[in-house]
Amino acid sequence: MYNSGKIIIGLLVFVLAATFPIWYNAATGQSDEYKPDPKIVVDTGYCVAETNYMRKAHMDLLNDWRDRVVRDGERFVNVQGEVMEMSLTNTCMMKCHWNKEDFCDECHNYAEVSPYCWDCHLEPKEVE
Ligand code: HEC
Ligand code: HEC
Repeated sequence: MYNSGKIIIGLLVFVLAATFPIWYNAATGQSDEYKPDPKIVVDTGYCVAETNYMRKAHMDLLNDWRDRVVRDGERFVNVQGEVMEMSLTNTCMMKCHWNKEDFCDECHNYAEVSPYCWDCHLEPKEVE
């Protein structure tokens, strides 16, 4: 028998080198092939806040809304003169982002976050 230990190490080094781009992309979360493409369903300008702000801070805004509703008993907020219900399902999803799969999930899968909100909150369902 030849030195099988060395052969196995050699094989391992080869496999690692050959697959370098795959695991490097996986480890750094980068991939040339895939970029998230949230299909945003908003036809008239913006709703609660500007897109750039929402991209960065929607989780903070949702937390703030939740605290105000659940802890302080407020239900409504005035946004640019429009009275809105502070509600994940009734406002965010029913008014604009009704397709959780194409919108929220598209980004969250890419960013590898899985908010547990829908354990309790309802996700709108399409009616045929
Ligand atoms: C264990 C169940 C549960 C989970 C999980 C949960 N919530 Fe809630 N949430 C509630 C309940 C109950 C209320 C109070 C509902 C009410 O008073 O209308 C509430 C209220 C809210 C409200 C204000 C009212 C409304 O209709 O939206 C927001 C906003 C909210 N939650 C956001 C979130 C977000 C964001 C997440 C995920 C990070 C989340 N919640 C996860 C149970 C939950
Ligand atoms: C443009 C991309 C994008 C879209 C669209 C998006 N999210 Fe997010 N969301 C993110 C990213 C990125 C994070 C993680 C941020 C971080 O970890 O700091 C996140 C985190 C969250 C969190 C906090 C989760 C946690 O565990 O901390 C909540 C809640 C959330 N998103 C709710 C929503 C909801 C509800 C929708 C759809 C109505 C949505 N997001 C759509 C990119 C997006």
